[in-house]
Amino acid sequence: MHLVTLTPGDGIGPEITRAVLDIFAAAKVPVQWEEHNAGITTLESEGALLPQALFDSLERTRVGLKGPITTPVGKGFRSVNITLRQKYDLYQNLRPAKTTEGINTPFKGIDLVLFRENTEGLYSGLEMWDERLGIADSVSRNTVVGCRKICRAAFAYAAKHGRKHVTLAHKGNILKMAGKLMLDACKEAAAEFPAVTFYDDRIIDNMCMQLVNKPQQFDVIVTTNLFGDILSDLCAGLVGGLGVVAGANIGDDMAIFEAVHGSAPDIAGQGKANPTALLRSALLMLEHLGEKEHAARIEQALNETLKLKEQCTGDLGGRASTQEFARFVIEKL
Ligand code: NAI
Repeated sequence: MHLVTLTPGDGIGPEITRAVLDIFAAAKVPVQWEEHNAGITTLESEGALLPQALFDSLERTRVGLKGPITTPVGKGFRSVNITLRQKYDLYQNLRPAKTTEGINTPFKGIDLVLFRENTEGLYSGLEMWDERLGIADSVSRNTVVGCRKICRAAFAYAAKHGRKHVTLAHKGNILKMAGKLMLDACKEAAAEFPAVTFYDDRIIDNMCMQLVNKPQQFDVIVTTNLFGDILSDLCAGLVGGLGVVAGANIGDDMAIFEAVHGSAPDIAGQGKANPTALLRSALLMLEHLGEKEHAARIEQALNETLKLKEQCTGDLGGRASTQEFARFVIEKL
């Protein structure tokens, strides 16, 4: 039995978490949950955005499944997500994007994995506001160690999963120093993993155009924090939207799995949210725990469900509620 820390989160978090728990229970997955919430919900109920009990649990289990957490724009507290990623050095943000039969998109045959550096860059938290001059400085800090770690992780993943090539997305023509760090780190990693047969780099603006023009050309993409945050939503849009894409924050000795999307306040509490993204994140978690057979069985039931539009949630053109969708998956197990 695997012990996993469960954080339902804010907004649609509790609804999609319920759906995933029901599916896992029906599939008799050997996971025992330790529920410890965080975010606006615990700020209101316990006076803490990140209660100590959550840290204690994560440090015991080393694996978490987390729902989305709301972060106010331009004011208020620092992102709970960033705090967790930095505290536990979860430097890899793995975000796969793949086309699925039944989900209508302008493209077929996309199967790429994005590796976003998850703790540095413009998300380092180095922001200064000079009231007198009216200047806001947001420092993007990238380290040699951080760049090496994420680039090596991308190449190691490509080699392990039989993927052919890694593309680096950067802005080295303007941000020359950070760009060079990532380029050098990729070259080092490419030399270490000769089975990854092709390596190239693209300037981020061109990368965006190429992704919406011919996304099938990409296999594994590695990039810095901000570019990765933006590209992963772009990639989500290519394969069916934020309701279907999974994510994982991975460090050397801890991993927290969560969907790419946020707390979706516009549909929270209405039973409209698609639980696929969190379910797919939970399947990545099962693979991480070595439970490949359970993951494959649930994935098959999920893919069967997604084939019929009437079984899907509104974001995919269907009419099913979050819980009805979960029941369709359970029927197919
Ligand atoms: P969002 O991802 O929450 O929503 C963007 C759009 O996608 C909305 O129209 C929403 O309804 C839709 N959507 C998202 N997930 C969906 C799902 N599972 N099923 C159906 N539709 C879905 O992004 P937004 O609105 O920019 O951010 C809302 C809040 O979430 C903010 O406070 C933000 O900071 C936070 N956030 C948290 C993240 C996390 O906890 N990892 C990641 C991204 C944002």
